[in-house]
Amino acid sequence: MNSEKERFLVFLKPDAYLRKYVGAKILDIIHRNKDYKILAFKEVTMTDKHAKRHYQEHEGKDFFPWLLKFIKLGPVLAMIVEGNIQKFRDWIGATKCQEADSQSIRGDLGIYGGVNLVHASDSAKTAKRELKIWNEEIGLTIDKNVESAIKDYVSKWSLNDNNYSKKLQKWCSELVNSKKTEDVIRKKIIELLKEECYTSDEEKVKIFTDVIIDACKL
Ligand code: RTP
Ligand code: MG
Repeated sequence: MNSEKERFLVFLKPDAYLRKYVGAKILDIIHRNKDYKILAFKEVTMTDKHAKRHYQEHEGKDFFPWLLKFIKLGPVLAMIVEGNIQKFRDWIGATKCQEADSQSIRGDLGIYGGVNLVHASDSAKTAKRELKIWNEEIGLTIDKNVESAIKDYVSKWSLNDNNYSKKLQKWCSELVNSKKTEDVIRKKIIELLKEECYTSDEEKVKIFTDVIIDACKL
């Protein structure tokens, strides 16, 4: 297949879904990029079975229990994308946000470690496997009517521009470098996430914060 026309799976992870403006901004960037075409767009809450099947290659690794907790924090925004896989992977950046190029999506907008906003298939072979799983688990398939759903999502969550990525990155790095206590950092993160997530569900924000703090310890 023409390498510019590979079809692969992308999903915006629960951190992108919960950080409303940040998620909408990433979706908008992908959508506007002429190198890529979005062929399916669907909000999905991954079950335990689906998450384990998707991330099967990581089962048994030390970060796996954390990864399952993270990926089930909330829905993901799943897409089938057409374009060059390697180019897309380079564009989103290295797995751990603090190691990703500062111009990449993960380096610019991600918080810390694996709290990295975006999944993308890492090769044509993986793409085939993942698209099969997502088709079997939730019926993800090419849909010609994605345009309005994407535009609606972007406009719904772009009414303001709450993006505290740099501050969140700073608090995580202070925690990792033991410059402040965990209690102080927890309060700072909760304060910022409450604004980014537009939610009155304090419990949700607390669980999200726990996942971020745990990512700093991995
Ligand atoms: P993804 O599959 O989500 O696109 O990410 P990736 O290829 O860049 O990274 P991968 O090695 O496949 O890991 C899957 C996800 O697990 C979390 N992770 N955390 N702290 C860690 O050592 C660590 N390693 C992996 C990340 O959320 C990563 O995206
Ligand atoms: Mg991967």
